[in-house]
Amino acid sequence: MCGIVGYLGEEQACPILIKGLHRLEYRGYDSSGVAIINAKGDLNVYKAKGKVSALEESIKEKDTTGTIGIAHTRWATHGEPNAINAHPHYSESKNLALVHNGIIENYKSLRTEMEKNNMTFCSQTDTEVLVQLVEYMMNTHNCDMYTAVQLALKNVIGAYAIAILDKSHPDQLVCARKGSPLIIGLGKSANGRAEFFLGSDATPIIEYTNKVIYLQDEEIAIMDRSGHIDITNLSNVKQTPQLVTLQMNLDQLEKGGYPHFMLKEIWEQPNALRTCIRGRLNMADKDVLLSGILDHKEKFLNCNRIIICACGTSWHSALIGKYFIEEAAQIPVEVEYASEFRYRNPVIYPNDIVIAVSQSGETADTLAAIQLAKSKGAFLYGICNVIGSSIARATDSGTYLHVGPEIGVASTKAFTGQVITLALLGLAIAKEKKTLSDEMFHMLVNELQQIPDKMQWTLEHNKNIDQFAQMFTYCKNFIYLGRGYNYPVALEGALKLKEISYIHAEGYPAAEMKHGPIALIDEEMPVVVIAPKRGMYEKVVSNIQEIKSRKGKIISVVTEGDTVVRDMSDYCFVIPDTRDCFVPLLAVIPLQLLSYYVAIAKGRNVDQPRNLAKSVTVE
Ligand code: AGP
Ligand code: GLU
Repeated sequence: MCGIVGYLGEEQACPILIKGLHRLEYRGYDSSGVAIINAKGDLNVYKAKGKVSALEESIKEKDTTGTIGIAHTRWATHGEPNAINAHPHYSESKNLALVHNGIIENYKSLRTEMEKNNMTFCSQTDTEVLVQLVEYMMNTHNCDMYTAVQLALKNVIGAYAIAILDKSHPDQLVCARKGSPLIIGLGKSANGRAEFFLGSDATPIIEYTNKVIYLQDEEIAIMDRSGHIDITNLSNVKQTPQLVTLQMNLDQLEKGGYPHFMLKEIWEQPNALRTCIRGRLNMADKDVLLSGILDHKEKFLNCNRIIICACGTSWHSALIGKYFIEEAAQIPVEVEYASEFRYRNPVIYPNDIVIAVSQSGETADTLAAIQLAKSKGAFLYGICNVIGSSIARATDSGTYLHVGPEIGVASTKAFTGQVITLALLGLAIAKEKKTLSDEMFHMLVNELQQIPDKMQWTLEHNKNIDQFAQMFTYCKNFIYLGRGYNYPVALEGALKLKEISYIHAEGYPAAEMKHGPIALIDEEMPVVVIAPKRGMYEKVVSNIQEIKSRKGKIISVVTEGDTVVRDMSDYCFVIPDTRDCFVPLLAVIPLQLLSYYVAIAKGRNVDQPRNLAKSVTVE
């Protein structure tokens, strides 16, 4: 996890690199750095602990001239976050500089080997081992840097996206990847000369060009100033790159007047979901069309079991997906933490379908989980937001969320996008399997179509949460409760609060309270209960009574018009009525707003919470 940016062209590299780092900062932000070769041929490396703004400040008086450079924003895995461990890392001679995203698992043995050859290291990172190894290969094989990179990477176990500069070749930029994403942008400068951009994702590139190449695993690319690009694999076999045109624009990456990306993304949800269902819900025929399912109809008809692998928020949406698919399509669904699944020896039957749910499409554990499933013969389906991401490309079929880029580290619109996509998937399978009556199917389609408007209503009616969020800043713990479809919403509400306000919070199935957690309740404990006037309403009312009798503070999410729970609550959020299965799409909204405003009241950096990064591309 981290962000890599690179530039080779006619323009001054530094401003492009710094701007790119700002765009990638959501991926990692404990330190950053840049390496630039100036016109005299000096390879200057500057690094700083903290956010990109700290780097920017520290290089104000430095020579940052040059038209070729690489940069990095780090999320430390090996070695504490400080300026020495920050990237780029020099090789011992200082002729090479390298940035790296990922983990070199065998770095210790490689380092020991090189230390035996009297090479010295200045950082604690696995990355420095890589740049040293490249130089070691250049010296021992008397070869150029590109060949040395090929040789070095053959000795490496782990995951990487790297970009590397060689002082003696100031016109060449080399990069490679395995298991971590890297995109090459092909642009033209003002005078029509070719220029190249590198990015861990498209966000630092899109401002300059929409023509990109997604580097594949074990591919190495070399670019030069004449506009030439060569891509080979580790064995030096030439690869034919596929040029892709990105469908994304700069506006989608900006805050659009909101103070934070998270708040913007919360408010974007009605429109994001409209885009997500557009063309997939056909209201004229009351039909659902998912090409990912239609193209593989037989697979879904013959499938005996679905396994969904995901992490974090995506795991929560997967759980809602399980409830819906089981109810609508009558297929058993298991939801797995990808990080656990990948290291077990899970039983996979020939007719199993494995679905990966991932906003970024780059989560290392989820990617590894589906690779394992593939090796066992499963059919893979991807539900991703980022187009062209590793998981999207590794799966046999899939559906994109189309909710637009999500920049805030705390996932919001991707969650609701995933829930609605899984609902579409459940309906599409149910249609093929005829497990729902026509009447029920049409009613669900009808209701789903109204969700974006109901979300807008929910946002408008809960925007005053900021006025009382202050009251919760003193709290050390929160409990979130829900039943049925709303149990995963309780988990998601608790995760949102934890990750951006740093208040400890737990989500439970409401009825589980009496089996232990109820011991935690006292007058200090806020309990958020999702209590829509649907399914298990009466049961949830009893659960609320149990908490009230122990003096817990009730914050409820209720259906518009409900008075019973409202009267029992200290604070109450309203949502419009909808079917049980779609309540999570509305109930999560006040919980997102609550976590946002509590975090703001506590002075937290909501878009970049401590210790977290947007896509976890390392184990
Ligand atoms: C969500 O708020 C989190 N930051 C995190 O749990 C996230 O959902 C998880 O890392 C999975 O990411 P993915 O959807 O990109 O795979
Ligand atoms: N493993 C490298 C480090 O700790 C790279 C981490 C990253 O991807 O940011 O420096």
